[in-house]
Amino acid sequence: MAAILIIDDEPGIRRTLAAILEDEGYKTQAAEDAILGLEILNREAIDLVFLDVLLPKLGGMEALEHIRRDWPGVEVVVISGHANVDMAVRAVKLGAFDFLEKPLSLDKVLTICRNALTVQKLRKENQNLKRIAGGARNEIIGTSGEIENIRALIRQAAGSDARILITGENGTGKELVARAIHNGSARADRVFVEVNCAAIPDTLIESELFGHEKGAFTDAVSSRKGRFEQAHGGTLFLDEIGDMSLSAQSKVLRVIQEQRMERLGGEKTIDTDVRIVAATNKDLSKECALGRFRQDLFFRINVIPIRLPPLRERAEDIPLLLSHFLKEMGGEKTEFDAGALDFMTSYLWPGNVRELRNLAERIAVMYNGNRIDRRGLENLLLKNPVFAAGSGTSAETGKGAAQTQVPSALPSDLMALNYNDAKESFEKYYLEFQLSQNNGIISKTAEAIGIYPSNLHAKVRKYKITTAGPAGGHGEKD
Ligand SMILES: Nc1ncnc2c1ncn2[C@@H]1O[C@H](COP(=O)(O)OP(=O)(O)OP(=O)(O)O)[C@@H](O)[C@H]1O
Ligand SMILES: [Mg+2]
Repeated sequence: MAAILIIDDEPGIRRTLAAILEDEGYKTQAAEDAILGLEILNREAIDLVFLDVLLPKLGGMEALEHIRRDWPGVEVVVISGHANVDMAVRAVKLGAFDFLEKPLSLDKVLTICRNALTVQKLRKENQNLKRIAGGARNEIIGTSGEIENIRALIRQAAGSDARILITGENGTGKELVARAIHNGSARADRVFVEVNCAAIPDTLIESELFGHEKGAFTDAVSSRKGRFEQAHGGTLFLDEIGDMSLSAQSKVLRVIQEQRMERLGGEKTIDTDVRIVAATNKDLSKECALGRFRQDLFFRINVIPIRLPPLRERAEDIPLLLSHFLKEMGGEKTEFDAGALDFMTSYLWPGNVRELRNLAERIAVMYNGNRIDRRGLENLLLKNPVFAAGSGTSAETGKGAAQTQVPSALPSDLMALNYNDAKESFEKYYLEFQLSQNNGIISKTAEAIGIYPSNLHAKVRKYKITTAGPAGGHGEKD
């Protein structure tokens, strides 16, 4: 039977709710404030929380945020007085399942409780199905010697608990390989926990990795498990490990050596049994030489190195990857003329497989059932965020971009132009990009960027913008 936690400072409400729910066979726990409640969540497996919005110490809304972040599978039903129904409505917007108004009605309590648990069950089933279906999406595609070698390495490495360091430019498939290693290992039925070290500020990374006890620092209102603890028995994927601070690196090294750790501000020693797979697009030996990465940690994590080659070094995989992605996105009826195919294999793919996948998505939307030529491809690539934004790609990006024939849509001497010319260049580039994001549909684009459609029509005419649609015309579909 489901386990339900009641967090309310009124003893009467706690008693009544517990009695109603236990009569129905549910197991209940109660806490008089949110901090005690979060501690119970930390200790025990809870399915559903009844949470008062007005609580002493930590407020109900903040508690809801904690629960949503740390226990995403737990449903929350908010309880509010008549005077603060607006807060309850806000809570539902923040992810609570529903709310109950005091005084509580027996029928309503039971109906909402049953509904919340049913939705939770469906959600879990759905996630499981997605995971199974996702197996196909996690397939590593390619027949080049490079990819065959990587498959062989994964097979050999997965069986052991050896630490693995995956390196490669952005978008080469590092995460895909990390998951394949986990799925091929004896830990496959345990958790795969991912930490993106680059996305977490230095000040938070240690708490994220090792967890903390209540009061360890100002914002630590309740204790929290870190990623190492969450990954116990499974695999911990330390993504972008080259971006981890030196102080976090020392701690990770210690945990690897001792296979135990303490939470921040904690005394208790916790055993950790995790298999570490790390990834980076940096050259860690260079980072070590520059004093930005600890050599001893590098040796520890680099037991089995797997280097993913950039896509341009295995051009023979491009057609296969392309047709795989097109099928996935419903664009398999696109025809490519010889010029287009030629361009695909000579292009340098600064964003690697991710860029190819994004391109396939655009082709599927705009060309399915039609023929695409080199010009059409160049147009789509120009509007591909991986390329156009020039962001998120490694140092190689600049090199790759410069050697290809694709011109930048923004003039490189933008800053040298007079005000009017610069403004118009930017406006044209901006509108082309926004139109491409909205399938060339004027009304949709106008709404997305907050101008009148008639105004956008006028600008499209003024700048002679032709959105790359199959008809080759204005691509206007509405
Ligand atoms: N060989 C492959 N076969 C099929 N799909 C692939 C392959 N390589 C990469 N992909 C797909 O390309 C996308 C980018 O891959 P992934 O996220 O693993 O790259 P990454 O190296 O981790 O990138 P980043 O450095 O930007 O984090 C994903 O959608 C992934 O599924
Ligand atoms: Mg990645």
